[in-house]
Amino acid sequence: GADISKLLSSTGLVTYDPGFANTASCASEITYIDGDAGVLRYRGYPIDQLANGSTFIETSYLLIYGELPTAQQLGEFEDKIRRHTLLHEDLKRFFDGFPRDAHPMPVLSSAVSALSTFYQDSHNPFDAEQVELSTVRLLAKLPTIAAYAYKKSVGQPFLYPDNSLGLVENFLRMTFGLPAEPYEPDPVIVRALDMLFVLHADHEQNCSTSTVRLVGSSQANLFASVSAGINALFGPLHGGANQSVLEMLESIRHSGGDVGSFVQKVKAREAGVKLMGFGHRVYKNYDPRAAIVKKTADEILTGLGKRDDLLDIALELEGVALSDDYFIERKLYPNVDFYTGLLYRAMGFPTKMFTVLFAIGRLPGWIAQWHEMINDPQTKIGRPRQLYTGPGEREFVPVGKR
Ligand code: ACO
Repeated sequence: GADISKLLSSTGLVTYDPGFANTASCASEITYIDGDAGVLRYRGYPIDQLANGSTFIETSYLLIYGELPTAQQLGEFEDKIRRHTLLHEDLKRFFDGFPRDAHPMPVLSSAVSALSTFYQDSHNPFDAEQVELSTVRLLAKLPTIAAYAYKKSVGQPFLYPDNSLGLVENFLRMTFGLPAEPYEPDPVIVRALDMLFVLHADHEQNCSTSTVRLVGSSQANLFASVSAGINALFGPLHGGANQSVLEMLESIRHSGGDVGSFVQKVKAREAGVKLMGFGHRVYKNYDPRAAIVKKTADEILTGLGKRDDLLDIALELEGVALSDDYFIERKLYPNVDFYTGLLYRAMGFPTKMFTVLFAIGRLPGWIAQWHEMINDPQTKIGRPRQLYTGPGEREFVPVGKR
């Protein structure tokens, strides 16, 4: 109800930009997005080239250190990560404290926050060696933590990492493997998951990344900053959307598969129903990541023998939305999460794990952005202004007289 323009004219030079839709909070060399053209590049390399030709570890190196590694640099980086995949035995006990049906995202953020207590030798954000150690520890341990969050939820024993395996194979084995039973991850799943991690690896100043930078701007360490980012990613308007999309597709199927009437409900804004997996703050065109996932979804689902009617519902829903004026006028297109849930499900992950997979993918972006923030001489502690709309001065009345 407040008259914002009146407030603004009385506050001096303050911009009012809810959701920071038009405010650049930093300069960055990491990721380029042209939302109108549907372009995404990491350090100058187009996302489709990286998705098809690179790997998650190589892309992580590119994002964090700025250049593609040589074969030797890549080998050394992979080796370093391999040697840090174990969790401290005391950290493993944390998982016992959570309820068995706990959502794995807050379990993940709690465990990452706890890394600050186990590695107090790496709290100085200006010591390059300490930061490098935290970087490697995080990249190595997040998949282990994620797999244990899953194991806890299904009541199965934890598996130690097997350091003869690559990051994705190791993660799949710790998630789906059982003690004393050989586990051979399906190479189709390994390649697809690796590619999905590449697609999620950075996306400039989204909600979770801005959170990592904001927390880091107070000079909080990398573990504390990333833990905050994981909590930001948990929300259904951000990383939580991949879970919501699948729940939406399942509820459409449950009610007889009537896509048209669901779209009508969205347009009528019934009880806050949104078309989950659609729309983006920056993309006003097809999300290039969604285009890649859509292209591979059919092929991978068919390859795994998991092609089902949910993909048909998704394809129909996209078709109906993209030919409807409501969505055309608002430039609402599928975002990366519209099709990813179908793939995660076909790989055997329960819905609750989808956002965790996003977090594993986004980690190198958070780390790269934190590095850039801490080394940028322009960085100041993040501290937005406000427009005060509360009461004017009034006299305190003791409780007995109220
Ligand atoms: N379904 C229906 N209508 C939508 C949707 C949607 N998914 N998204 C936006 N709109 C409408 C809004 O109601 C608004 O209409 P109006 O101008 O008539 O009021 C208009 O489109 C503009 O939308 P905003 O909410 O202003 O856009 P904003 O940039 O603030 O939000 C967001 C972007 C949060 C992604 C939004 O599109 C959304 O909620 N989408 C669904 C959730 C989702 O998929 N999130 C994942 C984002 S990508 C990621 O994190 C990987």
